[in-house]
Amino acid sequence: MISKLTIQKINDEARVEDVVGEFVTLKKRGANLLGLCPFHNEKTPSFNVNPARNIYKCFGCGKAGGPLQFLMDYQQLSYPDALRFLAKKYNIEIEETVEASEQREQIEKQNLTESIYIANAFAQKFFTEHMFNSDSGKIGLAYFKERGFLNHTIEKFQLGFAPDAPDALTKAALKENFQLDILKKAGLTSPKENSTYDFFRTRVMFPIHNITGKVAGFGGRIMVKDEKAPKYINTPESEVYLKSKILYGAYFAKNEIRKKDECLLVEGYTDVISLHQSGIENAVASSGTALTQDQIRLIKRMTPNITMLYDGDAAGMKAALRGTDLILEEGMNVRVVTLPPTEDPDSFVRKSGEEAFNKYIKENRKDLILFKTSIFAEEAKKDPIKKAELIRDIVNSIAKIPDTIQRSVYIKECSQLFDLDEQVLITEVNKIRRKKNSEQNNEADKRQEREQIKADELPKAFHKEQFNEAPAHLHIIEHDIIRILIEFGSWKTPDDTMTVVQYVLDELEGLEIETPKYKFVYDTIKREFADGNIHPEKFFTTHSDEQITSVAIELLSQPYSLSDNWWNKYKIVVPEKKDIFVKDIQSTVIRFKHFKIIAELKKVEHKLKETTNEAELVRLMKLHKLLMNQKKEFALTVGNVLYRPTT
Ligand code: UTP
Ligand code: MN
Repeated sequence: MISKLTIQKINDEARVEDVVGEFVTLKKRGANLLGLCPFHNEKTPSFNVNPARNIYKCFGCGKAGGPLQFLMDYQQLSYPDALRFLAKKYNIEIEETVEASEQREQIEKQNLTESIYIANAFAQKFFTEHMFNSDSGKIGLAYFKERGFLNHTIEKFQLGFAPDAPDALTKAALKENFQLDILKKAGLTSPKENSTYDFFRTRVMFPIHNITGKVAGFGGRIMVKDEKAPKYINTPESEVYLKSKILYGAYFAKNEIRKKDECLLVEGYTDVISLHQSGIENAVASSGTALTQDQIRLIKRMTPNITMLYDGDAAGMKAALRGTDLILEEGMNVRVVTLPPTEDPDSFVRKSGEEAFNKYIKENRKDLILFKTSIFAEEAKKDPIKKAELIRDIVNSIAKIPDTIQRSVYIKECSQLFDLDEQVLITEVNKIRRKKNSEQNNEADKRQEREQIKADELPKAFHKEQFNEAPAHLHIIEHDIIRILIEFGSWKTPDDTMTVVQYVLDELEGLEIETPKYKFVYDTIKREFADGNIHPEKFFTTHSDEQITSVAIELLSQPYSLSDNWWNKYKIVVPEKKDIFVKDIQSTVIRFKHFKIIAELKKVEHKLKETTNEAELVRLMKLHKLLMNQKKEFALTVGNVLYRPTT
């Protein structure tokens, strides 16, 4: 367990713009930063980062939070892992409150994902140690050496060897108190019932790291040529190993990809490793399958430029083509390099070295149109039908590019290459785009539109409430109470005698918050306040419970200030929040009490009609009179502050 003090330090240090900025390109927009939301597909940025409040919010999909929440949501980190990530980033030493000897206990307690990662880390160490330190493992090391991998490369990529034994890993793990169930779920042990067979046997092992460097799965390569057995076997899909979301090497490449503003995409594990060893560290692999949208987006967060490097054979080129349209659709730039026949990036870079390799890439990379054309040019020259097909194919690809200027550049190129009238191509491309648009009507854009409408309607709802005799919605007032507590809680009242939290809690003493989610937050504030914590804004936006952070962020990140709005209605110029906060607080407290009195009155009136008991009748009438007086008094105050006087 990470100590409370450490958590506090981390929360004090972590800057939302730093953390989000690691994954999302942000542009300054006033006091805030704006970027493309990484949680949903969008073309116009609606992802807002507010450095002053240390929070982000997407006005498109609604995702919101602080630095911790971002890591938990976006990187799928657990709470403790997100804390560790930040501690590392900000050089904060972590103070643990649990002894290492209690780790075993933790293994049992941790949730499934966590346990799988722990099991994978154990397996990785087991494979590596077996390779370096046992006689039977030496053949694995010899294999890697034979392939030209140096020791530091083997260590960096944490390569290893799975022993030639039925259940060596499983046995060792069980001895360390790992649960068989978890080993199976991690894909390390055969999933068959009662079986304790290792999934990987007699194979050299490539751990597959997720973007944060944790081992999510493995690829195991056979060492001898065998027609019957697959060359590689990979961890089956699991909680943590989702093939479509992982790029091999991304963890090691991410910094260099950003620096070079280019991502090299290759096919295989060994290609990535050889390239990195040769000093070309911006390479990742799709692991033999066609690139998925998730993988493309992972790259997009680091750079918009992808260069695909594929084997010179026909299969390699086909593979290259499969992912390209998806890349264009994401608005990214894709170029393709074909290697000399019979070479793959691994063999080629080992032969040529870093410099010659880079030179080759520079001279041979083609944009998509040139690439497609070059592949099919020979066939197309002779056959007009083939040529028409090729042009159609290219036009389809161009239509997928979201950016108008880029589209027209490609159209020009295409028209020159095939000696076609540019206008004809433009018409064709636009036709395809129109069709596509009417078919899909982009779900993301629609959603954004809906959100926009909601936001526009909100002030109207408030407006209506304003002139009703009694506010129609208790939850709106309660919303304001919580907002005030979170926003101004730690501020001092103007007379400097107490904090706003104290003031509000005192004023509302004995009154219940009724809306469940606000009651929950209110009660938490009360408790925390009793513990001496007077920083609701901070402890809520950094809270480990998502329910709480989401309410807090929702309240803090309204696109406009409701109170400002109210005051603007009355044509009072109130430029700064700090100038209106007193009225904001007072009016909210009064509105709340007012509502409660009216509700109480209604209750009493109802009871008056029902009861037949004389004494009870008298009591109720007294109470009714008292409440009526209070209401009158209130009506005046409320009227002065916000409402028209009620009659
Ligand atoms: P390759 O056959 O090109 O392998 O498959 P490679 O990476 O170049 O490996 P070496 O150089 O022969 O050792 C490319 C990628 O496709 C996946 C692996 O991710 C591999 O790295 N693959 C290939 C499999 O998952 N299973 C297979 O049977 C073959
Ligand atoms: Mn290879």
